[in-house]
Amino acid sequence: MYRPAIIKENLQISDRNFVFRQYVRKDTGCCTYLFGATPFGDCVIVDPLMDFERFLPPSGGKEYHVKHVIDTHIHADHLSGARELCSLTGAKLLMHESSQVSCEFEPIGDGMNLNLCGLNVKVLHTPGHATEHVSLLVDDRFLLSGDSLLIRDVGRTDLGRGSNEQLYQTLFKKLVLLEDKIEVYPAHIGAKHSLTGEQSSTMGIEKHLNPALQLKTFNEFLQYMTEGWPPKPNNYELYIKVNQGQIRLEEAQRLVQHVAVGEA
Ligand SMILES: [Fe+2]
Repeated sequence: MYRPAIIKENLQISDRNFVFRQYVRKDTGCCTYLFGATPFGDCVIVDPLMDFERFLPPSGGKEYHVKHVIDTHIHADHLSGARELCSLTGAKLLMHESSQVSCEFEPIGDGMNLNLCGLNVKVLHTPGHATEHVSLLVDDRFLLSGDSLLIRDVGRTDLGRGSNEQLYQTLFKKLVLLEDKIEVYPAHIGAKHSLTGEQSSTMGIEKHLNPALQLKTFNEFLQYMTEGWPPKPNNYELYIKVNQGQIRLEEAQRLVQHVAVGEA
């Protein structure tokens, strides 16, 4: 089975009434989040990497009960562990109502206020990086921004299902309206996407320092989105199909050997 070897819990905020954890796969910068209303017990997992249940402390997830799993979007640069985690734990998978995946999921949509594991989670439809992309505002405090707003950057739109027009609307008509104090936790950090090594930010910092948010016109934004990006991830179309359920992981492994050993 696929076993990502390099993962690290970078951040934990916890008290009697709250737990919020960020896990980062260090070689790719992919982030997974865990939160719930008690330090242990029922929890929500967002954007789990493949085989993520191994990383639930202290061993095998015995002290966490995963009730809900959310993929902010259909990932194009790594394999999602959402379906595997749901089948192992009995958790429900939540995704945006427009998500084109073959598995069952509970549809969520813009403006919905969900009570998940004792915490309020507001759903923001934030298309642009992908049409089905959602961001999650947890407890009016943490914005899990997926690959829409990154730290000092934004998610690329050239991986097959993106739209510069939609991302422009998402950033300038929706996300910049959030209060400065809201903390930002993206789905990717590190050199591949952001200009810094920081693991979190705030809306206030990003409004002032994120280069993409300083652009005044759509034409300037379009230029930013179409110039100077690194090469596309290897086999991103294959990852999308696996994550959609169109191709089984084993079949993908036969097609591309490195899918099996940790590229995703
Ligand atoms: Fe993505």
